[in-house]
Amino acid sequence: MAYKTQGIALVLLMLVAGMSIANHQNGHVDVTVDTDQLSDRALKGQEVFNIRCAVCHGTNGSGTPAGPPLIHTIYNPNHHDNNSFSRAVTKGVQQHHWSYGNMPAQAGVGFSELSAILAFVREVQVFNGVLPAAHSM
Ligand code: HEC
Repeated sequence: MAYKTQGIALVLLMLVAGMSIANHQNGHVDVTVDTDQLSDRALKGQEVFNIRCAVCHGTNGSGTPAGPPLIHTIYNPNHHDNNSFSRAVTKGVQQHHWSYGNMPAQAGVGFSELSAILAFVREVQVFNGVLPAAHSM
C-alpha cells in the first residue's frame, strides 16, 4: 500500500516536472500589460521592444520558441540588472539559462531606445508579479 502511494506520488512528480520542462521549451508565459498604467517612456519602450526584441522574446516579453520570456523571475532586477540588458544588446548572449541558443548583438539599439525598453520591461515585470528577488539561479 505504501509502495503504491509512493508510486502515484512519483508519477505526479514526473508529470509536474515534465510540464515545467515543456513550458520552458515552448517558451511562452501569459503577460498582462496595462497600457493605462505604463509611463510615457515605457510606452515608447514597448514600441521599440515589439519591433526589435519580440521576434525572439515575444510580444511584450512573453517568450517564443526562439527566445525566453523576459517577464520571468530569472530576469528580475536583482538577477539581471540594467547592465546585463545593456551587455545583452551590445555584445549578445551565450546560451546559458535555457536551450534556445545564443542571442546575437542587436545593432542600432542606442542608449535612449535601451533605456525606454528597460522602463517598459521593468514596469511590465511589476504588473506581472516579477519583483526584485534574491539571486538564487
Ligand atoms: C534572435 C533572437 C533574439 C533577439 C532578436 C533578441 N534576443 Fe535577447 N535573448 C535571446 C536568447 C535566445 C536569450 C537567452 C540566452 C540564454 O540565457 O540561454 C536572450 C537573452 C536575453 C537577455 C538575458 C541576458 C543574460 O545576461 O542572461 C536579455 C536581457 C535580453 N535577451 C534582452 C534582449 C533585448 C532587449 C532585445 C531587443 C533589443 C533582445 N534581447 C533581442 C534571443 C534574442
